[in-house]
Amino acid sequence: MERNDNFWWYITLRGPAGLEDVLSSAAESTGCIGSTVTNEGDAVDLQVYYRANQDLGEWLKMLQPYLEPWREIEIKDMGRVENRAWNTEWMDAFPPLNVGEKLVVMAPWHAGKEDPGRLPIFIYPGSAFGTGYHQSTQAVLTLMERWLKPGDAVADIGCGTAILSIAALKMGAERAYARDLDPSVVREAVRNTLELNGIAGEKLDIAVGDLLKGFGHTVDLLLANILYEPNMAMLPDVARVLKPGGRAIFSGLVVEEGEKFKEKLAENGLRLVDEVRLDDWCGLAVAKI
Ligand SMILES: C[S@@+](CC[C@H](N)C(=O)[O-])C[C@H]1O[C@@H](n2cnc3c(N)ncnc32)[C@H](O)[C@@H]1O
Repeated sequence: MERNDNFWWYITLRGPAGLEDVLSSAAESTGCIGSTVTNEGDAVDLQVYYRANQDLGEWLKMLQPYLEPWREIEIKDMGRVENRAWNTEWMDAFPPLNVGEKLVVMAPWHAGKEDPGRLPIFIYPGSAFGTGYHQSTQAVLTLMERWLKPGDAVADIGCGTAILSIAALKMGAERAYARDLDPSVVREAVRNTLELNGIAGEKLDIAVGDLLKGFGHTVDLLLANILYEPNMAMLPDVARVLKPGGRAIFSGLVVEEGEKFKEKLAENGLRLVDEVRLDDWCGLAVAKI
């Protein structure tokens, strides 16, 4: 059989802990191309990979003499594994995603592949929430296209990657204040905004912060894609930080939560002006009364 690297065979050997060397030596003696070890309680599994230039049965025949003296070793399973381009495949993820009427969210290595006329928001998909692929983020972006005015000062509460601040600044906001409880998220946000999107440092104030506690600015537009509970907790403080004529967009609410949230708007000096539903998620745009 010819050399074929489109797939490999694997044979998983299981033995009691302590026999790792025996398992590895059997694997190496039979010409495997690699192996991975996992421990499961008192047992150890060695998954051994072989080239597909001969049938799996041939590899098994070669392995058996090495296993025969070891009754406690068993063959747990075997099969075929596709040899995908592991090192580059992940980069295919996060292809350009059109959001709303004007925006496209994408990983930086897809630059240039977006639909012409769309404004690209580059996000490096790291550990922070906010790649743009979640409906709750898309709901805010869609409402922001309708309710952001050029020159607005914006608060982005629960900023994650700072995707909402980036979009706001790229759509003409003058300044954004991004806050998140998680300090690691804040570091990632700096890389996303300043480096990838070419946003001037002075336009963006990113800091660790818990909702609106200690927030001393007033803004034209507040953005908050956080869950129902933090949104509710923050609601009494929202009108205070909004300038006259100010607006807020709340997201991270499933539809039933959105209905409960709406009931609390008037008593907090706000009124509903717009709404977007994406699957089970809803985004609400409100104005200061
Ligand atoms: C659903 S993510 C939204 C990320 C991004 N803004 C987006 O729209 O895709 C919510 C973010 O809120 C942050 N968060 C949760 N509770 C918070 C709080 N009390 N104060 C500030 N940020 C909070 C989380 O760390 C997380 O990054």
